[in-house]
Amino acid sequence: GLEIGKLLSNTGQVTLDTGFVNTASCVSSITYIDGDAGILRYRGYPIEELAEKSTFLESSYLLIHGELPTTAQLEEFTDRIQHHTLLHEEMRRFFDGFPRDAHPMAVLSSAVSALSTFYQDSLNPFDTEQVEISTIRLLAKVPTIASYAYKKAIGQPMLYPDNSLGYVENFLRMTFGVPATPYELDPVQVKVLDMLLLLHADHEQNCSTSTVRLVGSSQANLFASVSAGVNALFGPLHGGANQAVLEMLQEIHTDGGDVGAFVRKVKNKEAGVRLMGFGHRVYKNYDPRAALVKKAAQDVLGRMAKPDPLLDLAMQLEEIALADDFFVSRKLYPNVDFYTGLIYKAMGFPTTMFTVLFALGRLPGWIAQWREMINDPETKIGRPRQVYTGYGARDYAPIAGR
Ligand code: ACO
Repeated sequence: GLEIGKLLSNTGQVTLDTGFVNTASCVSSITYIDGDAGILRYRGYPIEELAEKSTFLESSYLLIHGELPTTAQLEEFTDRIQHHTLLHEEMRRFFDGFPRDAHPMAVLSSAVSALSTFYQDSLNPFDTEQVEISTIRLLAKVPTIASYAYKKAIGQPMLYPDNSLGYVENFLRMTFGVPATPYELDPVQVKVLDMLLLLHADHEQNCSTSTVRLVGSSQANLFASVSAGVNALFGPLHGGANQAVLEMLQEIHTDGGDVGAFVRKVKNKEAGVRLMGFGHRVYKNYDPRAALVKKAAQDVLGRMAKPDPLLDLAMQLEEIALADDFFVSRKLYPNVDFYTGLIYKAMGFPTTMFTVLFALGRLPGWIAQWREMINDPETKIGRPRQVYTGYGARDYAPIAGR
């Protein structure tokens, strides 16, 4: 029998750690998480304080450059981003080729990957100036790509970015605005969406960030690495959970709203049904982001003329789960995705766009982590080992004799 932990392989000793539960792949000074205490900090700053006082772009600068910007630095950073929001006209045509019902995450990853074809001068990961431009281009163009993916899906014409608007304002206008019609921005929505993006901005070595690092460790360029991260985020156990949560709530609602019956299904592990938006590899306590999102959901949904019954269902689910030994003993608490979908829905986003919003938020984290890795002299190509359990050497049998 093989002992889990240290195993003797044919090439010496290797450690088997499926899912990398206990294995660090890098050293990093970007984000700190204490999962037992429910603490999250970007570059030392508590997430609660940043959510209250900072903005998405300021926190992006902090994550990428390591320090909070001065007024002049933030102005320059914002200005550069605002002036790179346009997509190349040829790239705009890219969207025509996708089927109308394409998932916008698939469109996003393809379009981010395609940036490598339009900006071939920025493919060298060690050219500091080009990495800086790629950073700006990504932050500037992903909102444009995201809104174009949405417009394509609903059959509306795409709007060019309006560079006189702020980051979130511009994205909301490109998404929900209609040509030749003034678009009225709701300042509460702008503020809340900015905060949600900030809350998603980094989360150390999660699946998508580790993917960005792994791809980048082969010295693949920033666009190629980030598009891989988008694909990793697509899955329902990661970023796709925000879409899955809303679908789960809708299903419970359609089935008559029996929250208790759904929780029983989860506890009986019926057909792998999980309480989506619950549980986290690192947080074994309340996810600090979930607390902030819950409060925002109550604020945003509380302003609606007609209350969304799904918010009530979500709160009931949380209450039942937090008092149930199945969830308590497994330390399953709401994660960041549990309440975000309700806010996105209230803002008018279709469920398929939820994970795209997560990607938009996670972008500065992916960029910061990729840059940290490229600049770390200790970086090696990521190349895990395996424990081989297949056949020993066998003789090849000619096909006629099989
Ligand atoms: N509902 C029901 N049971 C759960 C859930 C859940 N959401 N999450 C974990 N469990 C149970 C498992 O069945 C397992 O029980 P067992 O010991 O009886 O077999 C135990 O808790 C441990 O679960 P693991 O899958 O080993 O935990 P892991 O750390 O690998 O998974 C994950 C973490 C993927 C987030 C998991 O909790 C999950 O699937 N959650 C639902 C999807 C989700 O919300 N994902 C978003 C994560 S956060 C993010 O990406 C933003």
